[in-house]
Amino acid sequence: MNVLVTGGAGYIGSHSVAELLEAGHDVVVVDNLCNGSEQALRRVEGITGKSVSFEECDIRDRESLGRVFGNHDIDAVIHFAGLKAVGESVNVPLAYYDNNVHGTTVLCEAMAAAGVFKLVFSSSATVYGVEAPVPYQEDMPRGTTLNPYGTSKAMVETILEDLCKADDRWAVSLLRYFNPIGAHPSGLIGEDPQGIPNNLMPFISQVAIGRRDGLSIFGSDYPTEDGTCVRDYLHVVDLAVGHLKALERLSDPGVYTYNLGTGSGVSVLEMVKTFTEVTEVDVPYRFAPPRDGDLPAFWADSSKAQEELGWCAEKGLEEMMRDTWCWQSKNPEGYS
Ligand code: NAD
Ligand code: UFG
Repeated sequence: MNVLVTGGAGYIGSHSVAELLEAGHDVVVVDNLCNGSEQALRRVEGITGKSVSFEECDIRDRESLGRVFGNHDIDAVIHFAGLKAVGESVNVPLAYYDNNVHGTTVLCEAMAAAGVFKLVFSSSATVYGVEAPVPYQEDMPRGTTLNPYGTSKAMVETILEDLCKADDRWAVSLLRYFNPIGAHPSGLIGEDPQGIPNNLMPFISQVAIGRRDGLSIFGSDYPTEDGTCVRDYLHVVDLAVGHLKALERLSDPGVYTYNLGTGSGVSVLEMVKTFTEVTEVDVPYRFAPPRDGDLPAFWADSSKAQEELGWCAEKGLEEMMRDTWCWQSKNPEGYS
């Protein structure tokens, strides 16, 4: 297939481009580089020995996007492009709705104009909302989201469902990720957050490499075994393989929703302990007040992806830590 990957120069996108190329697909990446790096794509070419077409373009720019579809004979789209910082989304909600929601509608219009109706979308476990019991299952309703980022993902899911109801040429896969971490085992591509990392894993690895003094663990009194929050962390390469499988199974029209997680939860303290055991590098930490909007614990029921896509997360926590550290220690300043 000839696959257009929006946001392919970012963290999950670049790992997915590598898997697509390894599987024999051709890839065109569209990215405006607001949080991605062209370097990541050049390194993907080094890893795979295959080339990637790159178009620097904002998905909200109809004309440029139309030109990309005109210049390449695209069969399907995997849509990663968007903004993802939960805290920032509270301060600049319009930027999140404009990029994540409006960006997706412009993309779908460009796809339809080009006769492309296969779409894999990056959604998030956050759409289950605050009330959902664990483990999360795909047939649960979307719940109350607590920030514009989460709401934008829930809105896009609804829009894509409406689109499939209105026009039976569309086949859409909604992939609800849990907590992707880790890096390509080569250590050549990985997560390179701009500024202070919001997420736990890049924060831990930046403390370990000496870029930050210590980790603040948000909350110590949650109703979990050790009082810290529990999440379902999965290896980014497993997540990338999930996209490949979802894409390759996407033939009949309709909406297909899958959780992509390991199915088990790990606490923040266990994360720090495992990182230190695997890398033999100490991560100083202190307890800090809980972060607004954090849920105590959630993880996936990922049996639907196993049954329908033949996908399950194969890489364990130690491998996630090893690969994170390999990337961080080979690239202390990320791609720069
Ligand atoms: P990322 O920021 O590394 O990648 C997103 C890419 O999209 C970046 O390269 C950025 O430059 C590009 N981009 C942003 N807006 C664009 C626009 N308007 N036009 C063109 N390119 C644009 O993020 P990621 O972690 O790789 O996440 C990819 C997707 O997965 C996002 O949609 C994110 O919301 C979703 N997601 C991520 C997580 C996570 O924990 N990382 C969890 C759930 C869902
Ligand atoms: N944490 C800390 N210290 C930090 C950073 C995080 O203690 O410096 C804790 C958080 O409080 C949380 C856990 O580590 O308990 C994981 O936090 P992350 O920010 O890494 O991940 P979240 O579960 O908060 O958010 C992730 C994605 C969102 C997505 C959400 C639900 O980043 O995009 O999962 O799927 F919406």
